[in-house]
Amino acid sequence: WTGDTMELRLSACILLVLCATWSANGGNILVWYTEGSHWINMKPVLETLVDRGHQVTVLVPSSSLYMNANEPSRFRYEPFNVSFSKDAMQDFLEEFLRFSMYEIDYMSYWEIYIRFSEIIKTQMQFSIQYLDGVVKSEVVMKKLKEGNYDLLLADPIYRGSDLVADILGIPLVFSLRFSVAYNWERHCGQMPAPPSFVPGAMSKLTDKMDFSERVWNFLYYALQDIAMSHIFGKVDRYYSDVKGTPTSACELMSKADIWLIRTYWDFEFPRPFLPNFKYVGGIHCRPAKPLPEDLEEFVQSSGDDGIVIFTLGSMIKNVTKEKANMIASGLAQIPQKVLWRYRGEKPATLGANTRIYDWIPQNDLLGHPKTRAFITHGGTNGIYEAIYHGVPMVGIPMFGDQPDNMVHMKAKGAAVILNLNFITTEDLRDTINTVINDKSYKENAMRLSSIHHDRPMSALEEAVFWIEFTLRNKGAKHLRVQAHELTWYQYHSLDVLGFFLTIVLLLIFIFIKTCSFCLHRCCVRKGKTKKKAE
Ligand SMILES: *[C@@H]1O[C@H](CO)[C@@H](O)[C@H](O)[C@H]1NC(C)=O
Ligand SMILES: *[C@@H]1O[C@H](CO)[C@@H](O)[C@H](O)[C@H]1NC(C)=O
Repeated sequence: WTGDTMELRLSACILLVLCATWSANGGNILVWYTEGSHWINMKPVLETLVDRGHQVTVLVPSSSLYMNANEPSRFRYEPFNVSFSKDAMQDFLEEFLRFSMYEIDYMSYWEIYIRFSEIIKTQMQFSIQYLDGVVKSEVVMKKLKEGNYDLLLADPIYRGSDLVADILGIPLVFSLRFSVAYNWERHCGQMPAPPSFVPGAMSKLTDKMDFSERVWNFLYYALQDIAMSHIFGKVDRYYSDVKGTPTSACELMSKADIWLIRTYWDFEFPRPFLPNFKYVGGIHCRPAKPLPEDLEEFVQSSGDDGIVIFTLGSMIKNVTKEKANMIASGLAQIPQKVLWRYRGEKPATLGANTRIYDWIPQNDLLGHPKTRAFITHGGTNGIYEAIYHGVPMVGIPMFGDQPDNMVHMKAKGAAVILNLNFITTEDLRDTINTVINDKSYKENAMRLSSIHHDRPMSALEEAVFWIEFTLRNKGAKHLRVQAHELTWYQYHSLDVLGFFLTIVLLLIFIFIKTCSFCLHRCCVRKGKTKKKAE
């Protein structure tokens, strides 16, 4: 035996001991791949889990636009290959942005329907290719099986985590903003959503609906149910194929132990939910840090007028020249200083009060005492930072959950909504002035902020608690309602109603029969007496 092998054995032993003691304290958590704002939201949870002694392993597709498996990180990365390139993904996103930002407002319902169906179809193809990269790759599946994971954490928007959790036989925790019309929450999670007072997600309705709105909301749920069964047929077939038995995606989704919903009652309209649904909106929010010196100097130069922060989110880097000029000249006419996150060409009409930045420390700026308003595309992450710091908003929503998000903020009196395709310079200027000068917007934003902060533990702590809870208890199936086991007619008690209806009908039948019998006898007797009298 050489000294080298001795050493190797020794260090292997030490490693083994370390691993054994470590796994006694921490869990081994597998995280499904996510992108963009979903990843921004997931990251603080993962970092806290690492701080608390858990091992976190994140699946990263080769086409990821946001994650780099080769980057040094506090997480372990498990790369997998997908059959399309980063460019293909980027092209798809750009086309989607063009459609949602500039074209949709000028299209007929029919054209929108056709385009949207195409987009959903392409997205479904991507989803299947991602799934292929994991489930159909022997290398990856072998690694996952040998990884001895205790739990899978996933945003179900990125399909397939339920299938992999099922194959690995480990608990599943979802982190979800919402599904369209709450399809998954309702059908796969069994969360109740009466259409009379729970507006379907993305319907742009509030909880105060008049008759016609309730008609629309009812139809919206029904139409989305039909659309879902069409779209997900493909996933069902895929799952069935992999598992070798008829399996629906909804059935596997329904096995999720905990659903972490990324909103809270500062944002949501009150609604019924289930014990395994936890509302953890604002996970990524934190107190503001001091600004870099040059930024602080600019902010301070605004004096009593204060500053306005303008961003259209991480996905929208520029707008058309014409729109940029319209926006810039609107911003030039307000007394505040403006920090605009924008990567396009510098607009000719840019005012002296406006500065353009590639990137801004958004949370730190929103938490700055000089901040008067936030002009936003209405992404959930940005809205939550504004709620956290109590900043009123001007919303220019574009796509996805953004229009619906802004409707919530408007209904709560903390925002005004504008449409980028139809506003003028004057509209923009007047709206910003209104949101800043009409004190009700600031008051409502502060009220939402105090609701946001007034809870037993922070959103991040709560999310981490429920993940650790699931680890400690090896699942959370005791929170799962029996509704999952019922058929649709049992769920709505239609069988019971049918039973009662049968009894009532039977009683009515007996009553009528008895009456007619009595009547008949009476008549017959009367007839007889009559005859006798004659
Ligand atoms: C991904 O593809 C590369 C290049 O073909 C290969 O070297 C690597 O092993 C693959 N990774 C996995 C996880 O299959
Ligand atoms: C945004 O910039 C990119 C290149 O930097 C350009 O290709 C694209 O056309 C621009 N978008 C708009 C709407 O002007």
